[in-house]
Amino acid sequence: MIKLALNKTVTESDILSYQEKVSKINKMIDEKTGAGNDYLGWADWPVNYDKEELERIISDAKYVRDNFDILVVCGIGGSYLGAKAAIDSLKGLKSDDKIEIIFMGQTFSPNYVSQVINYLKGKKFAINVISKSGTTTETSISFRLLKQLLESQVGKEGAKKAIFATTDKEKGALKTLSNNEGYATYVLPGDIGGRYSVFTAVGTFPLAVAGVDVKALISGAAKAREDFDNDDIKNNICYRYAVSRDILYRNNFPVEMFVTYEPQMTQISEWLKQLFGESEGKEKKGLFPASATFSTDLHSLGQFIQDGSPILFETILNVVNPSSDIDIPETEDDLDGLNYLKGKNLSYVNQKAFEGTLKAHEEEGKVPCNVITINKLDAETLGYIFYFFMRACAMSAYLLEINPFNQPGVEIYKKNMFHLLGKKGY
Ligand code: PA5
Repeated sequence: MIKLALNKTVTESDILSYQEKVSKINKMIDEKTGAGNDYLGWADWPVNYDKEELERIISDAKYVRDNFDILVVCGIGGSYLGAKAAIDSLKGLKSDDKIEIIFMGQTFSPNYVSQVINYLKGKKFAINVISKSGTTTETSISFRLLKQLLESQVGKEGAKKAIFATTDKEKGALKTLSNNEGYATYVLPGDIGGRYSVFTAVGTFPLAVAGVDVKALISGAAKAREDFDNDDIKNNICYRYAVSRDILYRNNFPVEMFVTYEPQMTQISEWLKQLFGESEGKEKKGLFPASATFSTDLHSLGQFIQDGSPILFETILNVVNPSSDIDIPETEDDLDGLNYLKGKNLSYVNQKAFEGTLKAHEEEGKVPCNVITINKLDAETLGYIFYFFMRACAMSAYLLEINPFNQPGVEIYKKNMFHLLGKKGY
């Protein structure tokens, strides 16, 4: 479903020299014996997922589509980035779908939160609150505000039918609140961490409401699992990619820049930044994940990438066939000098920008570039890509001898903030 062309600086014999390590780690993932092994539920989820819950999600999503104008998804980190990435990439940035999806709960910004609350006033909206722990402060504050507005507009009984909670099966404040209030709930399984949860209800409920074919998304992930759950390093592109990252990291390329040529895929880069950043950035190790959207950022970061400190390599997601296209018209006077492009479409120009930039960065800039070619981005292919990166990330972190599934560093800012806010116990 995708093709990988690895950067030219990493040789085949470099890759093959990792065979033993890759075999060992693949076995560790399959047998769940490595660090963080109780968070490996995502690896088989595309085939082991809760089929009954997915049917309920699809039918509840239809109810939301039929009865509301807006769904507000309230979550942060792994509890929203996958859904946002998929909705943007599959529906586009100017979607005219009958239902609008708004994300809130990912910030304390008084401006953003009050703008969303004001926008929702008098509108018919439902809420999907998502939190595994049920105690994340950004999400909890937003949910408190959203719930209050909703109840003031449709009453407590009406609000019950418009609130859908995704959280732990048994524990946590959100679970208790949902039980008490009688909200529909979906499960984020205990053995799947937020950033590996896009195929669970965390992703599937908002995606189904947005009109995305979630069964196709999961079937793409299942195909990826079939293709990448093996240690054949000559052919397994997922592990070849992971190994090449490790080699580049050890050869003084500590920054990986994820690049797309589609603004609607920018959120995929945000999802990737969280996936790799939180999984690998520990014990003073790990690649720094950065991102750029070309050609836009060629007019800002392009100079640095071409000529600046030689610290980064690129991983480019190149979609060959966009879901829509537009021809460049001819004009009689040709005052802007663009008639040489008459009859050509924008995807042709975008591809030439990709080819020209790749050559400039690789040949003159000496920037190692990996290219992942995607024929067309649909739900199934996106599921395949998400799984490809999740599995590659686990392999990469284990190659660095790091637990990919915890995030101890995230707690420190919270402790300080709670202390400053006067929370009991801090
Ligand atoms: O990947 C992760 O585990 C984190 O990014 C979490 O998803 C994020 O912190 C939100 O946590 P929670 O779902 O408990 O509100």
